[in-house]
Parts: sequence; C-alpha cells; structure tokens
Amino acid sequence: MAARIPLILDCDPGHDDALAIVVALARPELDLLAITTVAGNAGLAETTRNACRVLTLVGRTEIPVAAGAVGPLLRSLHVAEDVHGASGLEGAALPEPACDVRPEGALELLRTTVLAASAPVVIAAVGPLTNIALLVRIYPEVLERIHSIRVMGGAITEGNATASAEFNIWQDPEAAHIVLECGRPITLMTLDATHQALFTEADVVRLEASGTQVATVFADLLRYFGQFHRRRYGWDGSPIHDALVVAHLAVPELVKSQSYRVEVERVSELTRGRTVVDLHGLTGLSANADVGLEVDRDPFIDLLIEAVARVGAAAR
Ligand code: RIB
Ligand code: CA
Repeated sequence: MAARIPLILDCDPGHDDALAIVVALARPELDLLAITTVAGNAGLAETTRNACRVLTLVGRTEIPVAAGAVGPLLRSLHVAEDVHGASGLEGAALPEPACDVRPEGALELLRTTVLAASAPVVIAAVGPLTNIALLVRIYPEVLERIHSIRVMGGAITEGNATASAEFNIWQDPEAAHIVLECGRPITLMTLDATHQALFTEADVVRLEASGTQVATVFADLLRYFGQFHRRRYGWDGSPIHDALVVAHLAVPELVKSQSYRVEVERVSELTRGRTVVDLHGLTGLSANADVGLEVDRDPFIDLLIEAVARVGAAAR
C-alpha cells in the first residue's frame, strides 16, 4: 500500500469542517497529524471547542489541536451564525470537549509538525486562510516541507458571503492573496464544485442507518445545516464544502480540476474577496492554482456515508 499522506487540517468548525475531520480520520490514504483552528464560522473559542467536541465524539482525542488567529489579518471578523448557529456547530448533542488544546498555538504546532514529518505535509485549509498566511510569512523555512495547500475557497461564478465572494476568501482576502502567492502547489475547491454535490435528506437517512452515536449526531448536524440551504436556496440538501477538499485528497478522481491564474480582490468593498479566475489566460500571468471544476457526486456522497460509518464503528 502506498505511504499515507501526512495531513494537517486548518479549519473553523462548522458543520462541513466537522465532516472534513471525519473523512480525514476515516480514509486509509490519509494520516491526520494535527488540527489547527481559526476564527471564521464562529469565534476562535467556539471553533476550537467544536474541533475538540468532534474528536471527543469519535474517540480520537489524541490528535493534537491548537488554536490560531482570532480574526483576519486586517479586517474585522464576521461569523456565520445564520449558517452554523451561535456555537458554530448547532443542531446535535455533541459531547463536552475532552481534548487538551496545545498551549503553543496553531502557528507553532503547524511549524513543528511540518518540520518533523517524514514526508512533505499537505495542509487542508478549510476556513479563512489567516493561519496559513501567518505561517508562510513568519516561518518561510516550512515552505519546502509543505507538499501542497488544499483550500476550500473561492468561486468562478458566484458568492455566498456576498453576491461576489465565497466566505473563507471574503473573510480574509489579504491572507488568501498571501497563500495564493506563496509558491507551493495550491488546489482551490470552489463553490462551483461544492454546489454540484448536495448531501440530501435521503443521503442523511442512509448515513443515519449505520446506527452508531456518531451517525446519529452527524445526521442531526446535517439536518440543521440543511435548514440554512433550504431557506436560502430552496435546496434539498447541503454542499459539504470542506469534506470535499479532504475526500479529493484521498481520492483524486472525485474532482476534475484545471490550472488557472487566480487573483483576489482586496480593494473594492463591492467585490471584496472575489476570486478572479483567468479562464482564458487574458492576464498573461502563470497559473497559481488547480481549480476544482467538476465533482463525481455519487461516489463522494458514498464516501461521506462510509466515513461516518467507519469512524462510528471505531468509536464504539
Ligand atoms: O463558503 C464555505 C466555507 O465557509 C466552508 O469552509 C464553511 O465551513 C465556511 O468556513
Ligand atoms: Ca470551514
């Protein structure tokens, strides 16, 4: 069997972040070395608590967790209470956290984990990119030990934080710019991709059928998450944005992507955080990101259901 991919997950749990954690733990291709948290969907205390609650639920409190930035580099924090609730992970009976959050903080945990890994590490960044921007600016020596940075963020055609920008990039456009220019291979999993693969109520019923406490909790979380997407879009189901990033790392054939030049709007308020994807090479600039374009929905949904079942069975 091929060597497992060393992975650090930087996240702002968040319902879809929580499923990204489960996929990272469930997939045999991946070796989750650490979780770092950032303010985004909720405040840093909440996103950190939520990461620990998920690890406690699935019985994996040995995974190191450290907290990072309390907000964007320059701008003020805007949480997504309408999407994820005040706690950031509303809608289910999650256990109290039983993790010891690492005192050294996210930047130090990222630095030491990357430098100590036996192979270059993949960073899956599924919240605002503040921690990763700070990492590459304060500890540039880690760059050569980062295999790639897999980002959930941006969009070609739409927005969700505003009419023109996706939440993670909109939250901290300056950080996104720094990461896009850091010189390491970047994958950008956009809304154009994640919106192709909605986790429907029928999928929730399938997920719940594995009958574990983990399955019950995630069924409740997904039903809560679905309420927002039904209200806003009229959809039966939710895009599991962050889990698609991790699933794609484990199973590359799930997503078709294409290399493009991507720039981030950082001046205009109207289009703040918009990812401008140069589809036809009009800028003459070299590509700096592999942009997710097409998702093979059914295998992705099956992978999520299987991951929850596997982690649920192991947690018994
Ligand atoms: O736009 C979706 C992204 O913003 C996801 O990562 C979600 O968890 C929120 O962080
Ligand atoms: Ca997220």
